[in-house]
This record gives sequence, structure tokens and C-alpha cells, in this order.
Amino acid sequence: MTERQTITPAHRYRNNDKLIGIGNEFWDMSERHGLAGIVADYDAGTGVLRATEGHDFIPAGHEFVNFSCCSYLDLDSHPEVIEGAVDALRRYGVLDHCIARSRVQIPAMQELEISLGELFGAQVVCSIAASTATFGLLPLIASGHLGNGTRPLMIFDKNAHVSMANVKPVCADETEVVTSRHHDLDFIEDMCKKYAQVAYVCDGSDSLGGYAPVKELAELQDRYGLLVYYDDSHSLSAYGERGIGYVRTHHPAPDERTITVVTLNKAFGTSGAAVVLDGQSKQTLRIIERFGGALNYSQLLDTASVGAGLASAEIHRTDELTTLQNRLYGNIELFDSLVHTDQAGSTFPIRLVPMSDATVIEAGRRVIEAGFYVSPVFFPIVARGTAGLRVMMRAGQTEQQIRDLGKVLVEVGARPAGPPAAEALR
Ligand SMILES: Cc1ncc(COP(=O)(O)O)c(C=O)c1O
Repeated sequence: MTERQTITPAHRYRNNDKLIGIGNEFWDMSERHGLAGIVADYDAGTGVLRATEGHDFIPAGHEFVNFSCCSYLDLDSHPEVIEGAVDALRRYGVLDHCIARSRVQIPAMQELEISLGELFGAQVVCSIAASTATFGLLPLIASGHLGNGTRPLMIFDKNAHVSMANVKPVCADETEVVTSRHHDLDFIEDMCKKYAQVAYVCDGSDSLGGYAPVKELAELQDRYGLLVYYDDSHSLSAYGERGIGYVRTHHPAPDERTITVVTLNKAFGTSGAAVVLDGQSKQTLRIIERFGGALNYSQLLDTASVGAGLASAEIHRTDELTTLQNRLYGNIELFDSLVHTDQAGSTFPIRLVPMSDATVIEAGRRVIEAGFYVSPVFFPIVARGTAGLRVMMRAGQTEQQIRDLGKVLVEVGARPAGPPAAEALR
């Protein structure tokens, strides 16, 4: 028998050996210290979680407040959102009608698309998740079918969320793919001068803080016809008039060269995602619907999620949204007045409290023992020297909770807010 061959992978865009080798160690360590694998009941009245299973460090029944949850406005437990889900189920009388939307659909998801379209002043296509939408849309951009017909050079920002970075190999089968430094406008412009068409893929609002240079990119869009694909999931609802997010607030005139995906699962407080488009022809919308991968062959939003989405969209049309945003910003400001982070002063609801690799897990454990969950990030999942506790602020956190968290963070090694420490100036 001839010798059977083994495979040598190309690993041009992904490497599971490396990913799992590094990532699993991180997760194992987190779990051993009671900072991952937690199961807890949620009390919507108080926003407090109660562990249902015991652990070496956290006994069953231990209560804590989640300071690592992306429901920035707490709309996910808003009575009108819950009622909206129940009401839609009753109204449509069916949870799901399992067939590709391009063949037959009940009008539920269209109802949400119309409502969100009005909210954004845009064309909206809904999806079961932002990741699903991105996996369907980026290959269409790569082949020029979502764009002007010319295959673009696709530039993925180095920090693009994993839901976008994961699609590189698929896009690379359709066009050329490169990875740029973070928000490297000079590089993007150089590529625009060199290639007939360029598409840039990045976050509108980064998971670890910071916003995209939307205005500067809009200039490149005007000058060179650059297409930009934004994931603005972290700023939907939390930012801008009627919660339209960072990209749409700052883009001077979005047209068919700007495509934005937003999850509805963070501050919007429901499930699913919206693809926000401008100026796309009916033909292109059909291409998206038919050839956007799972946008066609997989599930639509179920009726309960649609109903919750409609209710949340209604809240976005009222002053309550502004009240919730202001409450969130007030809580962020209070936190910034207590604990130093590089993100202090921004409206972005995520803060990374710097810690050393050696102390961050122990610090996270002491914080949950004190009744607050913050997620540690540390080597090998992030570079050495950039470890920290990731804190997410929400509108529903109370002043007392924030002050208590600030106190315990300082006790476990965070730098208090205020003038820079003398050693930092040396
Ligand atoms: C920037 C960004 N995009 C997308 C997602 C995932 O969204 P979805 O659950 O709708 O796929 C996340 C979740 O962490 C995210 O941070």
C-alpha cells in the first residue's frame, strides 16, 4: 500500500492550532478561578444575578451584579420589550415558518425591517445575528456583487471583530485580501490610488473602546469611491439621536458605498441584527436576500424577537431613549471619576482597567467575591502588558453599585482616578 498523505495547511488567514492552543489555556484559567462557566439566575427587578451552581470560589446562591454585560440601556428586561415579544407571538400565532425567505415568508420580519428603516432613515435587512449577516455580505462585496461590479482589494482592519476577520478566507477566494494597521488612513488612501476599487472592513465602535474615523473615511469614499463595511454593534442605541449609532451620526451622507451591520443584541436589547443600507437598487437587495449565504438558507428572526424589536424601536422614538442614554453617560462619568482608565472621558461604555498578567485573575476573583462580575483579559489572549479587567457600564447600574465597584477595583490594584500618579510622569 502506498504511504497515505498528511495535510500541510496554508494558514494564510486562520490557524486553529494556535487559536485553541492559546485560547483554551485562557479559558481554563478563567474557569478555574470562577470567572468563566458561571451559571446564574437573573432578577430583572434588581438586575442582580444569583449563582445556581457552587464553585471553589463562588458558592451556590452567591449574588453579584454583572459589569460585563453589553445590554448598555437594560432594554432587554424592559417590560414593553418583554410584552412586545409575547404580543407578536399572539398576533402571528406562529414562532417561525421554516422556509427560505426568498420563497415564502410571513410578514413579521418585514414589519421590523420597515420600522428600523424608518428609525435609521435607511434600507434595512434583518438577520438572525450580526455574525450571520457579515458572513453573508462580505463575500458579496469581495466578488463585486455588492458594490459597483469591480472586485475590490479588501482591506481588513487589524482590529476588526472576529465576526469579520473570520470571513477573510472566504473573501480571499473571490478577491485579494490584506490586513491593515488599525485605522491606517494613509495605507487605505495609497491602496485607493493603486487599485480600481477598494473595500475597507472595520468596527464603527471597537469592542475595547474607541470609534472609527468615519468623517476621514467618508472623504476617501468621496474621492476614490472607497466602500466601507462597518460593524457598529457597540454604539447602536447607546449613541446618537434615536440611538442610530456612531457611524450614522457622523457620516455626512451615507450612500451605497457605506454598509453598516449592527447587532440588536447589545444596547438595543433584543435579538438578531440589522444591515443598514442606503441607495441600493431593488436588484442588489434581491442579490443580498438570495445569495447572502445564511441570510437566505438559514433562519429568519423568530416572531418573539421581531415583537421585542418592534417594541424597542418604539422606545427609540420616545424621550425615554434620551433619558436612558443620559443615565448611561452619567454612570460612565461616575465610574471615570473613581477609576483611571485610558478610555476615561469617552461616551463609549467599555473600560479596560489595566492590571498585570500576574495579578489580573486574582483581582477578578476578588471583585466577584465582593459582588461584581468584570471579565479579565490577559496573556496569552492579549499581548503581555495589556492585561486588564473589562468593565461595561449600563444605564440600570445604581450609584451605590458603581461606587462599591470602584472601591473594590482600587483595593485590588486599579489606579484611582485623579491627577496622574507621580511614577507615571517620570
Ligand atoms: C463588534 C461586534 N460585532 C458582532 C458581534 C456579534 O453579534 P451577533 O451576536 O449579532 O452575531 C459582537 C459580539 O460580541 C461584537 O462585539
